[in-house]
Amino acid sequence: MHWQWVKLLKAQKTPRQSFLAKFKDIQVALTFRDVVILPGRAEVEPSEVDVRTRVTKRHALNIPFVSSPMDTVTESDMAIAVARQGGLGVVHRNCSGEEQVEMVKRVKRAEALIIRDVITVAPTATVGQTLALMEQHNISGFPVVDGTKLVGIVTGRDVRFAQPALLVKQVMTKEVIKAEEGTTLDEAQRLLRDHKIEKLPIVNEAGELSGLITFKDILLRGKYPDAARDENGHLLCAAAVSPFDLDRARKLDEYADILVTDVSHFHNENVFRATKKLMAEVSAEVVVGNIGTFEAAEDAITELEQVSGFRVGIGSGSICTTAEVTKAGSPTLFATAQVSDAVAKYAAKIPIIADGGIRTPGDVAIALIAGASAVMIGNLFARCKESPGTLITIGGRYYKQYRGMGSPTARAKRYSLDRYSMPSKGVPEGVEGWVPYKGEAATLLDELVSGLRASMGYAGARNIKELWSKAKLAALSPSGAQEAGPHDILLPSESQERV
Ligand code: XMP
Repeated sequence: MHWQWVKLLKAQKTPRQSFLAKFKDIQVALTFRDVVILPGRAEVEPSEVDVRTRVTKRHALNIPFVSSPMDTVTESDMAIAVARQGGLGVVHRNCSGEEQVEMVKRVKRAEALIIRDVITVAPTATVGQTLALMEQHNISGFPVVDGTKLVGIVTGRDVRFAQPALLVKQVMTKEVIKAEEGTTLDEAQRLLRDHKIEKLPIVNEAGELSGLITFKDILLRGKYPDAARDENGHLLCAAAVSPFDLDRARKLDEYADILVTDVSHFHNENVFRATKKLMAEVSAEVVVGNIGTFEAAEDAITELEQVSGFRVGIGSGSICTTAEVTKAGSPTLFATAQVSDAVAKYAAKIPIIADGGIRTPGDVAIALIAGASAVMIGNLFARCKESPGTLITIGGRYYKQYRGMGSPTARAKRYSLDRYSMPSKGVPEGVEGWVPYKGEAATLLDELVSGLRASMGYAGARNIKELWSKAKLAALSPSGAQEAGPHDILLPSESQERV
């Protein structure tokens, strides 16, 4: 280099671009394990704590729990189980569009105040066809309609022992006990009881079938009083979507209450453009994610008008290898705080779902303190009876299969490859394995909610809003984090392993 240049450069006080500044202003991306909730003055007992929340701008939940859209976590059974306890299931998309729509339909059909999309048969259908329809939909009877007019009702008892070739009009009950539009639930219940019937068709002034109230739905309403339901009494249901598959999103939009974008790095111009188009096409609320920074939330708030929720956290999931493989990520706790600040800056009132890395009820409380309205969990739900993963035994104990959506076997199904960026499509970003079997999702959720109430009791918060405003966190040193678990004792589980 010419000596005059060297002189000039040496005279410069700071380099034009400071790489050292990247270290000087470095942020500490804390995780759930790095912090502790500081006990605060409590005015109520944990049993009085209110855990109700909003999961999107329009939809409320009775408990702040959402099950992940993963093919070993959420299909119809899990979505039904979680919604019945007051949470929300997001049906995965690692299947054909038809299969995913069918799963969402099953959830929406599981319960209703008044069923509006009633499955009916024509008077000219055969007994054989009716029996097949009963089996296909797992339904014990149908209103019989001629065109749109209600002309009868046919139940299992009418067709079970009848000749398959007989026509429905030959076996159906013609004197139908029915009710008019506007009948209250109490009146409907009385009619069902008085006449010892299971199904009450609802008709309009013209005698056309407009709905159906069933005894089963009334029983379920009493059995699951805290369920998350829509205005028609159906269980709430969300579905994962790719912003690049408009056709599937349109079909899901007919049934799902909420669509959740399923993209590992949402802060991407192509993804933003595609999501904008998708939002213009659908009427369901759209939760976007995953994002992990203030800037991503800020861009989404300012560039996408209809964001109804944020799915937040990159690389913290128990099956994730994204952060390990790519060295990129934003731990769920840190990501939640970043996004909360952006939401607060714009007074956007967009609920945040903290996604990934939740292992205990305390983690849930920490995520809420950082500004989340709900948490999304894969691992813990994968352990439950209602998850689709296979149940196996290892060493005399039960386990269920659980895999990342970026794991080689999940990718082999190819339906959700576009969750990951183009170059990484060939690189696994997840692992698969087994998680200990837990039993019913209701039991898991009971334990999580009790634990969350206890955490909120320590924090001195009566509800989630107070967690946001009052609760305080402190950072733990690595030895503090170790001290937080049992130590200096041989636990029964460990001693068994050693014997
Ligand atoms: P947990 O900790 O509950 O996290 O198992 C579930 C969340 O992890 C995300 N997810 C993945 N992330 N590679 C990733 O980097 C994957 O293969 C993968 N699969 C799921 C997802 O956000 C989920 O809700």
